[in-house]
Amino acid sequence: MSEQIRVLISEKEVDEKIEALGKQISKDYEGRQVHLICVLKGGAFFMCELAKRITTPVSLDFMSVSSYGDGTSSSGVVRIAKDLDESIEGKDVLIVEDIIDSGRTLYHLMDVLRQRHPKSLGLCTLLDKPERREKDVKVDYVGFEIPDEFVVGYGLDYAQKYRNLPYIGVVEGV
Ligand code: PRP
Ligand code: MN
Ligand code: MG
Repeated sequence: MSEQIRVLISEKEVDEKIEALGKQISKDYEGRQVHLICVLKGGAFFMCELAKRITTPVSLDFMSVSSYGDGTSSSGVVRIAKDLDESIEGKDVLIVEDIIDSGRTLYHLMDVLRQRHPKSLGLCTLLDKPERREKDVKVDYVGFEIPDEFVVGYGLDYAQKYRNLPYIGVVEGV
């Protein structure tokens, strides 16, 4: 059987959720500039949509941290493949991720970023799989809590495919 994608969260539901998250973040950071850090590659689609819905001043930077190979399970290895361009010292930093799974990636990343003395360090994730957590990570904004299924779309890949789907789907038949 070949791979098939079952819709888990529709495009409309995702859009509405991002709108709501943008509103909440705009309120919480009112009067301040929020420095969004996109965790590549998965966080890219979510960050672009979220940034458009934040009404307080926004600046952006990108970082690439990889913990997975091309399969469906974590290698447990977290590697900084691309660091930030700018200093985050004294900034109100909000990390934007597509998913928190085992928590290893963000546990490591938050540790690294905290040592660079941001004024504040927050975390916003589109998806959260609490069942899978191995490392304790404090998440400030969560789009959806999802069950332990292999999801793709909105930045999430399966062997680098499906990131561009405008909804969240589950890969079946693999
Ligand atoms: C995925 C996902 C998160 C991380 C979550 O990234 O985008 O960054 O794994 O898993 P964890 O909580 O178990 O650490 P991946 O390493 O696959 O890189 P990608 O974003 O380039 O797909
Ligand atoms: Mn990622
Ligand atoms: Mg991946």
